Amino acid sequence: MSLEQDILNQIATASDEPSLEAIRVATLGKKGSISEQMKSLGAMSPDERKQAGAALNVLKDKVTDAIGARKAVLQEALLEQRLALEKIDVTLPMRAEPRGTVHPVSQAWEEVVQIFGDLGFAVAEGPHIEDDFHNFTALNMPPEHPARQEQDTFYFNEKADGSRMVLRTHTSPVQIRTMLASEPPIRIIAPGRTFRSDSDMTHTPMFNQIEGLVIDEVTHMGHLKWILTEFCKSFFEVDDVKMRFRASHFPFTEPSLEVDINCSWEGGQVKIGQGNSWLEILGAGMVHPHVIKAGGLDPEKFQGFAFGMGLDRITMLKYGIPDLRAFFEADLRWLRHYGFKALNVPTLAGGLS
Ligand code: PHE
Repeated sequence: MSLEQDILNQIATASDEPSLEAIRVATLGKKGSISEQMKSLGAMSPDERKQAGAALNVLKDKVTDAIGARKAVLQEALLEQRLALEKIDVTLPMRAEPRGTVHPVSQAWEEVVQIFGDLGFAVAEGPHIEDDFHNFTALNMPPEHPARQEQDTFYFNEKADGSRMVLRTHTSPVQIRTMLASEPPIRIIAPGRTFRSDSDMTHTPMFNQIEGLVIDEVTHMGHLKWILTEFCKSFFEVDDVKMRFRASHFPFTEPSLEVDINCSWEGGQVKIGQGNSWLEILGAGMVHPHVIKAGGLDPEKFQGFAFGMGLDRITMLKYGIPDLRAFFEADLRWLRHYGFKALNVPTLAGGLS
């Protein structure tokens, strides 16, 4: 039957479901070709009708089946196409909570700023790349001074005039910059990076210091002692801490001292403010008159004290971190263990750590 062949051809070549549906309507729909033929059965004799009717029913079933089968093929093809397009890369990591934390040194830095802020100190800054004047000469270390050799300085190449810039070996140049830029009374701390060519369990080529400087008309060692004791109690969050002030030498302070705090090592854990062991945490002294002069101030009128503290060191002590080098290895596992939550901002009122 040519009608049958025609319809089945159309179905077999239908390229998508809408065209298949159009074929269904055009054949089996109310006004479709097969339905029209059904209507003509009425005008036939009973015998003819029986034969033609049966043939039309067979055709109707064939067309219905063919449409169903073609539909299944088209849907399958559509699915295949989608699966080919929508790829999931199973090697991608899952979307997770942010894993970073605040580095213990950043935390301690904030704590120190809070404590000294409460004592009336402002935060001052200086460059990491310093000239010879600020890092050495103005700090009472003229070119031939032996203390220059003790600092394991990183030097830059010589400039045309023969001078060499350095990576600052301590935060003390900020003393000079602050004196030159402001009028007494001066009360500043200067936390920041410092650099020395040195590397072992307790030394890294880059480390952090906190400088302190107080310059006024009446300033003495008693003030220095009180400030440092108050600081240590606040920072280590202990009611009492024993401090040992040992005579020492720095070119830029006179007299100079090194300061130890008491601690215990019971059970292999360091506890500040307990026990009879001592830990050195800072150098300090009364600012040398030469330094005050280099800072553009009259040493007859002004005097003061300065201190320099190892920030990494006091962080290790407070948080029981054994190896300094891990501070700068950017190991996320270490940071997750020792780090702080970003929203736990240290304040004196809310608690430091
Ligand atoms: N600048 C000294 C150092 O790095 C520390 C210090 C600072 C000592 C201020 C006394 C006064 O070792």
